[in-house]
Amino acid sequence: MSESINSPRSHVSRTTVPQIRERKGKEKIVGLTAYSTPIAAILDPFVDLLLVGDSLGMVVHGLPTTVGVTLDMMIMHGRAVMRGSNRALVVADLPFGSYERSPQQAHDSAVRVLQETGCQAVKLEAGEGCFDTIAFLVQRGIPVVGHIGLRPQAANVHGGFKAKGRTMTERESALAEAHAVDEAGAFAVVVEGVSNDLADQITQTISIPTIGIGASSSCGGQILVTDDMIGLFERTPKFVRRYGAARELIGRAVEAYAADVRSGSFPAFSETYTFKPKAAAAD
Ligand code: KIV
Repeated sequence: MSESINSPRSHVSRTTVPQIRERKGKEKIVGLTAYSTPIAAILDPFVDLLLVGDSLGMVVHGLPTTVGVTLDMMIMHGRAVMRGSNRALVVADLPFGSYERSPQQAHDSAVRVLQETGCQAVKLEAGEGCFDTIAFLVQRGIPVVGHIGLRPQAANVHGGFKAKGRTMTERESALAEAHAVDEAGAFAVVVEGVSNDLADQITQTISIPTIGIGASSSCGGQILVTDDMIGLFERTPKFVRRYGAARELIGRAVEAYAADVRSGSFPAFSETYTFKPKAAAAD
């Protein structure tokens, strides 16, 4: 079992699931993804919710979609994020293949995530067939965030990452998904890649907070993939506002380091260890 679960401080001052749920119609929820201890530590003072998103497959591991992400990968990154944070609510994604077969399979996976990482809730992509699963988990003490609209785990079915809600059929099914997630007992729902008026309608007609990504400013909160937001990932989707230029920053630092190594100016004498005869004599 992880040290983060056993640490007496692990849950002391964290934002709780009911606190997020009670934000509905009041204060906005600030969410970002995190996959590692140092990044979680930087984000933690500023956000309400850290998501250990399965986007880590693409962003950290270079996979083409999130379909290749496994439960073991999620658990390893979930533990790292818990070690770096002590304030935000931490939610971990259930990856593709770990919950769709049956509510029991989802329960086994969610229990592993909660027990082995210390994360407080799981998120799952709620297409048709998953609403009973959400209810099953919630009734057994597992807080769930739903994820509707553009569902990246369904990229193979939909032929890529395509925004939803531009046709009447898509609108009706996204609205129905949002209501089903709410009725199943989820405490929040991520609404991804839907037209802004549809996100508004969902937000106005369900009882739980909506957390938008590529949706609308009317959502109860917003979430972005941190690597997109800080300009680290190579592609920037239309809905992302870049608040930094991390790729350029790192590139400039590495360029300067490489030049210093090649010229011999790194390391300087002050950056090396010197022989101390007195310490050597004491050996
Ligand atoms: O995996 C992820 O990062 C997500 C966000 C896009 C919400 O689910």
